[in-house]
Amino acid sequence: MELLKQKILDCGRALNDHVLLVDSFLNHQVDVKLMREVGREFARLFADADIDRVVTIESSGITPAAMTALEMDLPMVIMKKSVSSILNEGILQTDVFSFTKNAPYLLTLKSEFIHPGDRVLLIDDFLANGEACFGAARLLRQAGAQLAGIGIVIAKAFQPGLKKLRSAGYRVEVLAPVSRMDEGHIEFGDVK
Ligand code: G4P
Repeated sequence: MELLKQKILDCGRALNDHVLLVDSFLNHQVDVKLMREVGREFARLFADADIDRVVTIESSGITPAAMTALEMDLPMVIMKKSVSSILNEGILQTDVFSFTKNAPYLLTLKSEFIHPGDRVLLIDDFLANGEACFGAARLLRQAGAQLAGIGIVIAKAFQPGLKKLRSAGYRVEVLAPVSRMDEGHIEFGDVK
């Protein structure tokens, strides 16, 4: 998606060869007009996928997922990383380890919001090692639903997640795949 790639070049900043700062438009301050275009692009890419529900993982996936759900006229569900004390009935959980943060978290979903047989589109802002997506896939399987597609705003294609997810058979569409970066330098390109 050229508009997004240009925004990354104009406003993103590679801190080093593995951390891309995009907090001026994606995950702290949010460019909602750009996110509306992101939602339109995901809706176009997955128009043929017969999706019943859009799912994301809190918190930075929420805006692109909401825009996608709005565009596709579908319900949206947010998987939680922190469990509220009032959320204790009918919940599904799985452990996910974040290599970026070097810490585990308990991904949580209330089963009533996903129906058996649902074809689910997972939208997230960043893909690094793919652990969050694999965790989400496990919860959806527990709920009897199917992960029919994964839409990622920015994937660090040089990290293992994208390759691993595609090797596992998932359809993954990335709007801005970053093939290489270093301080002050960003290159785009999908994995072969
Ligand atoms: P994985 O699911 O692909 O395995 O990724 P991992 O846990 O290693 O990292 C995911 C978290 O780290 C996400 O944030 C993601 O947005 C963030 N992250 C990973 N690489 C980068 C990067 O290069 N730049 C930025 N800005 N963030 C990155 P989170 O804190 O878990 O979620 P959220 O609350 O921001 O949504």
